Amino acid sequence: MNQAITQPANRQIGTVAMRWHGSSLELLDQRLLPDQEAWLRLDTAEGVARAIRDMVVRGAPAIGISAAYGVALAARGASGDHWKDQIQQSIELLAASRPTAVNLFWALKLMSEKLQHCGTAADAAEQLAAAAIEIHQDDLAANLAMADHALAHINTDRPVSVLTHCNTGALATGGYGTALGVIRRLHETGLLVNAYADETRPWLQGSRLTAWELARDGIPVTLNADSAAGAIMASGKVSWVIVGADRITANGDVANKIGTYSLAVLARYHGIGFMVVAPASTVDMALACGDDITIEEREGSELRQIRHLPMAPESVEVFNPVFDVTPADLIDAIVTERGVVERPDSERMKTLFL
Ligand code: MRU
Repeated sequence: MNQAITQPANRQIGTVAMRWHGSSLELLDQRLLPDQEAWLRLDTAEGVARAIRDMVVRGAPAIGISAAYGVALAARGASGDHWKDQIQQSIELLAASRPTAVNLFWALKLMSEKLQHCGTAADAAEQLAAAAIEIHQDDLAANLAMADHALAHINTDRPVSVLTHCNTGALATGGYGTALGVIRRLHETGLLVNAYADETRPWLQGSRLTAWELARDGIPVTLNADSAAGAIMASGKVSWVIVGADRITANGDVANKIGTYSLAVLARYHGIGFMVVAPASTVDMALACGDDITIEEREGSELRQIRHLPMAPESVEVFNPVFDVTPADLIDAIVTERGVVERPDSERMKTLFL
């Protein structure tokens, strides 16, 4: 099978991050965008784990989907008496690639459960590939449903401008996007004036990916430095801040790209709505609150350099957490494919996620 996903009728789902070919997975190398569009072809779980760790592919749902395809590749390579153990070891290797986005662990758990029901290596190769494709298709369907729920919640008859952070688009998901899916839908329905895209230091997901994705799809976008977000809100230009999530805990706390928490504080100060859009696979009801989330810290070189050009003294100490936690009480709405949790707390989360 060449394309794992089918384009829904009447919807442009954006530039996809991955292509499944049955015996290999191709990933659009997001480290090289926007100046180069290069695809990496991988045929082992080890290669997929490395690609996730090195951010060839990133974004919580896209990481989960890629890992699922990684397991399918492991199944193709498994043989002998210990084929099941070999696949399980690959699942563990994939699980060690990045710590914060729960979609990775959610997808691997699903794949591991499927594996338990497979009788032979050949059976596993077939069934795990089908399961990975299903995870991919379901994520795209969830994004489309989230956009419906979010628009009903925004409930505006006049076009609005919004501000977003990081990249939550087709590149970060199975297609269409989470927060960017809502922006896409606002545009499709004539309700978007403009999307402000935070550049998202240090990895620049906003400038390199979001601005590229929106511009490519003809959606009006203005790029701003992260530090301009407060001034944009103070100017009265935006009605909503709309972001994605990497993990949402049982009380409605949200881990997302570093800088999200500052935006939530600013939005509350300025009386602007703060919306989190993520599939149910991002909700982790096993964790009570945001304090329990492991926050990934990445290398200092991501701040000291941009594409190998020095931006700071080579030996300077760096603090580089790549996610932060926004407390539930700063969030106006969490939107998933199951519906909207308004002003989330433990009780309201249970109405959709128990
Ligand atoms: O480090 P990244 O680029 O994987 O971080 C991605 C984000 O924080 C996104 O905002 C989040 O995963 C939502 S993606 C739909």
